[in-house]
Amino acid sequence: MRVAVIDDEKIAGQLVKRVLEQEGFEVEFFQAGKPFLVRMRQNPFPIVFIDLQLPDIDGLSILNEVKKIHEDSEAIIITGHGSVETALDATQKGAFHYIHKPCKRHDIRLLASRAKERIELRKENKRLRLAMGKDNLVSGFVGASPAMQKIFALIRKLAMVNCNVLLQAETGTGKQMVARAIHALSPRKDHPFIYFNCGGFTEELISSELFGHEKGAFTGASKTKIGLLEAAEGGTVLLDEIGEMPPSMQVTLLNVLQERQIMRVGGTHHIDLDIRILAATNRDLQEAVKKGDFREDLFFRLNVVGLHLPRLAERQDDIPLLISHFIDKFNRAFSKEVKGVSPQVMDILTAYEYPGNVRELENIIQRAVALADSERIQLRDLPSRLQKFAEQQADDAEQMMPLEEVEKRHIATVLEKTHYNKNLASVILNLPRTTLWRRMKKYRLFQSEDEADND
Ligand SMILES: Nc1ncnc2c1ncn2[C@@H]1O[C@H](COP(=O)(O)OP(=O)(O)OP(=O)(O)O)[C@@H](O)[C@H]1O
Ligand SMILES: [Mg+2]
Repeated sequence: MRVAVIDDEKIAGQLVKRVLEQEGFEVEFFQAGKPFLVRMRQNPFPIVFIDLQLPDIDGLSILNEVKKIHEDSEAIIITGHGSVETALDATQKGAFHYIHKPCKRHDIRLLASRAKERIELRKENKRLRLAMGKDNLVSGFVGASPAMQKIFALIRKLAMVNCNVLLQAETGTGKQMVARAIHALSPRKDHPFIYFNCGGFTEELISSELFGHEKGAFTGASKTKIGLLEAAEGGTVLLDEIGEMPPSMQVTLLNVLQERQIMRVGGTHHIDLDIRILAATNRDLQEAVKKGDFREDLFFRLNVVGLHLPRLAERQDDIPLLISHFIDKFNRAFSKEVKGVSPQVMDILTAYEYPGNVRELENIIQRAVALADSERIQLRDLPSRLQKFAEQQADDAEQMMPLEEVEKRHIATVLEKTHYNKNLASVILNLPRTTLWRRMKKYRLFQSEDEADND
């Protein structure tokens, strides 16, 4: 993979170049912005290391140009002392990361390899998106991960056979989407798809809703009402939260499934039904059967085929696709033109656990698109729980460092707290003064440049 390094300081730039070459990158080194941009236009570099302070053009303008020339290029900003804010500004403008001078070999390697990974991931996503375009299950149903591809294949199969299906999966994983897809791809597609949530209703209400009632069946039944099952004739019914069905209704439902007939409340004759029943739950129904909360015979009737949807965190490949799908969706809804998410936000959104699964991701993107005031969604557009998560991630990353770095930081802290009193510092650290001095030189921990020369 080709990398450009732009730095007016020859020695610093050469160091970066050498380290990257050892890692197998093909590196071109530029000491000014203009010649780099000429080359970039001829043949875009996927990865660029840009020094913020250059003699001819400033680093941020170069970053801007790079993104214009080739949006997918990953830029890493090299900063001198005291320009952390500009560096942060750069990451908001689409830089992938920044690195402080003097650049450490370890950091150079790490950032280059992460940039490379991102580029490869994006290529892979593009490929999948193309593949998906050709092989769209139903519009708006996104899933390119192997797990979802398997489910799409199963949905296609199930659409063609008229069996009951039980969808068991965590909340927000897409159970209703699956049910709608099965219906939409089935020969029943031109007949109704009816959704009924069994949770939170009394038995009487469920009966009346599902089976309808005859005029005068009970006080207040002033006219005949057609129930949902009858209304679904020829089509598909999704019974959601089936685990919440009251026990007596479970018996009635079992009968309906066996006989394929219903009787309206207060009615005297059976009505034949041609409907397909799909049921969904986010409870563990086997467990409910064991506990005696759910009838085993009904469970087997419903569960002719069981379909389980994986949690979103278990199919990370789908996350970038879902993000762009939801950005499109909410751009349209809110008349906005958000182009994507910042690299930092992408890292956070792919690492997050999503207890609320796809619905939670959808809500996060909806909010972020509504709030975004730049082209890319930034960390500040995410809800506070994700911002906290980002901080935690950063802390964790901090902790993963070589022992030497720990030593260096600890010595630096003690020196600062003792105002660079080397006697005191050596006592606290329990190091002979000469050893402390050697470490200070090794890690360049001086109060001033003068001090370094003092030795
Ligand atoms: N694969 C997917 N592609 C696009 N959108 C999805 C996908 N999966 C879920 N969604 C969206 O996420 C939201 C939740 O999906 P859905 O209602 O199907 O989940 P559910 O499993 O039925 O959740 P619950 O158990 O809470 O009822 C919906 O807005 C749906 O459009
Ligand atoms: Mg649902």
